[in-house]
Amino acid sequence: MAIDYNQQIPNNVSLADNRRLQRALEAWQPKFRNWWTEMGPEGFQAKEVYLRTAVAVDAKGWAHFDYVKMPDYRWGIFLAEPEAGRQVNFGQHKGEPAWQEVPGEYRSTLRRIIVTQGDTDPASVEQQRLLGQTCPSLYDLRNLFQVNVEEGRHLWAMVYLLDAHFGRDGREEAEALLERRSGDVDKPRILGAFNEQTPDWLAFFMFTYFTDRDGKYQLASLAESGFDPLSRSCRFMLTEEAHHMFVGESGVGRVVQRACELMLEHDSGDLRDHGGIPLDLIQRYINFHFSVSIDLFGSELSTNAANYFSGGLKGRFGEAKLDDDHLLRDATYPVMEAYGKGFQNVEHPALNAVNERLRDNYVEDCQRGLNRWNKIIADSGIDFELRLPHRAFNRRIGNFAEIPVTPEGQIIDAAQWQANHDKWLPSSADRVYVSSLMAPVTERGRMANWIAAPARGINRQAIDFEYVKLN
Ligand SMILES: [Fe+2]
Ligand SMILES: [Fe+2]
Repeated sequence: MAIDYNQQIPNNVSLADNRRLQRALEAWQPKFRNWWTEMGPEGFQAKEVYLRTAVAVDAKGWAHFDYVKMPDYRWGIFLAEPEAGRQVNFGQHKGEPAWQEVPGEYRSTLRRIIVTQGDTDPASVEQQRLLGQTCPSLYDLRNLFQVNVEEGRHLWAMVYLLDAHFGRDGREEAEALLERRSGDVDKPRILGAFNEQTPDWLAFFMFTYFTDRDGKYQLASLAESGFDPLSRSCRFMLTEEAHHMFVGESGVGRVVQRACELMLEHDSGDLRDHGGIPLDLIQRYINFHFSVSIDLFGSELSTNAANYFSGGLKGRFGEAKLDDDHLLRDATYPVMEAYGKGFQNVEHPALNAVNERLRDNYVEDCQRGLNRWNKIIADSGIDFELRLPHRAFNRRIGNFAEIPVTPEGQIIDAAQWQANHDKWLPSSADRVYVSSLMAPVTERGRMANWIAAPARGINRQAIDFEYVKLN
């Protein structure tokens, strides 16, 4: 399915055949551009960036690379190809043909799901808008902007659904998505993690590793939706999301690698004296970003989540491939709870525990990156292991909210938490030190001292390719 770029809004949904929808989106487009100019990457809007744009939505060869100024990026509406004969794969409507229109009974629920998803995309652009000014290399600068324009496109994907399927309410929600602001006291973004700052590049790499990965799991469970346009939107978004997580995994990996190199070079003393980021500091960033990201999955037991599942709106990860009845009427699922001074698993109706199951899938996936980072450390002959903190550590939502727990999973009292949390979460001294390293490096091929070069360039270009033309 080729994308039509001759239109004001590039798309593969035959927008030209639906004048009402086309007008609604064309009216929203300048507002989006204003938002991008105001809240997008600051200081680089006039620069040429080597970016990829989708040319078709099939698995191979959808990417086209070229220089483009970000405000001229061709944001558009790209849905994965329809699957002939697709059905609702789970819940009480299992076996019905997938819905091409929103069923009346699920209208407000689906709108809420789409708005909550769509709110995260512009939020992350806002969180990252100043990072370009302290980029560790041109390569990284380009990757940041690639992530940013694609998050902008994810907003388009959700706004398309709102405009195409939710009438006037949908249009109002589309406007509101451009009005909320990350971290704003009066008009904050919907979810907590998207109101946190992304103050430095280590935080950016952690965010793209841990928080974009939450996005992957949310999108994957929405890709199972019985509402077919949502499913097709999310399926294509997932292909873009993969690059964001690559940026995070390889970014943290390069910081770890550089830390190891500097430790070997100067085999004693504080890495801070040599401009590296110590491994224990990296661990504290992991503790923070992992804990705020697992909050995004919501409460362990949730009637909302059960209703989304029963209604066929939001499935489990890989739903269609799971080998069970896809109804979860009698099934149970183990959920961790605090018990005395420790934790225990308690079986609960699986239907109420779908959030927890998705979080379990996510945690397992997170561990894979840590294994790769630990391999870098082990290959350097250094005795240190990065770990995911216990899932009860530093939580704000669910069973463990506000229970003080160490990263190892020991329940403590408030005084012990107060006395020790600086060892477990980035301290203000950590933040000050990391921010002291954040000086821009923009010479072709050069890297900041605190990060190793990537293994290879983007789209088979050299590492010293001019990924962003600054002059
Ligand atoms: Fe996204
Ligand atoms: Fe993303």
